[in-house]
Amino acid sequence: MNESIYGAWKDALPQVLHSIVSQIEDFSQKRKEETGEAAYEHLIYRIKTEDSMREKCRRKGLPENASSALYDIHDAIGIRIVCCFLNDIYENMNFIRSIPGCTIVKEKDYIKSAKPNGYRSCHLIVEMEAPFADVKGRNPGHFFAEIQLRTIAMDSWASLEHQMKYKKNIKNPEMITRELKRCADELASCDLSMQTIRNLIRQEH
Ligand code: GTP
Ligand code: MG
Repeated sequence: MNESIYGAWKDALPQVLHSIVSQIEDFSQKRKEETGEAAYEHLIYRIKTEDSMREKCRRKGLPENASSALYDIHDAIGIRIVCCFLNDIYENMNFIRSIPGCTIVKEKDYIKSAKPNGYRSCHLIVEMEAPFADVKGRNPGHFFAEIQLRTIAMDSWASLEHQMKYKKNIKNPEMITRELKRCADELASCDLSMQTIRNLIRQEH
């Protein structure tokens, strides 16, 4: 069997992943106890597979080694937080900012500025300190993770768009692209309305 592209850090990745995830889960659990509402609807996470990390190295013209996978590429660890309401996204982001040893090194807000195709989400690249050495020999080590935050509506759009992206021989691609964009914009408008409704309900108490 070939050696892992993650080299000696293969087992470190799930540890770093779980340390971030468990803190986000605890935050949501605490909020649920305090307010009756969790901070997100659901959360998924993964370590990027060997094959897709190798493919990404090749695509980016990087050598297929642990330094590329853990230092040059920042999404070996991926977490997606799917929220009910827009404001929850920013609450989770503020919590992530406050995690000890966790620094946000890059922030892309595709909610404030959607991608031309209509894609919306917030993408954070965080650098997490861990109590073991990293690929550059630093100890405590530093590991990157990509955290995507989106609403349920943004998530359903992204998953349908992702499915259709790979469909070949579509007869009228311009029309499909235009219609997908229109759906994304309608969903964004629903997200705003749902947030407003929630605020109104809260004021009544
Ligand atoms: P990479 O080098 O691939 O990381 O490119 P990037 O850093 O320019 O990507 P970006 O941070 O914009 O997006 C990374 C991830 O966001 C992707 O792997 C998808 O999960 C998601 N994503 C970004 N754009 C789209 C999109 O148009 N549609 C869907 N469905 N997902 C997207
Ligand atoms: Mg990226």
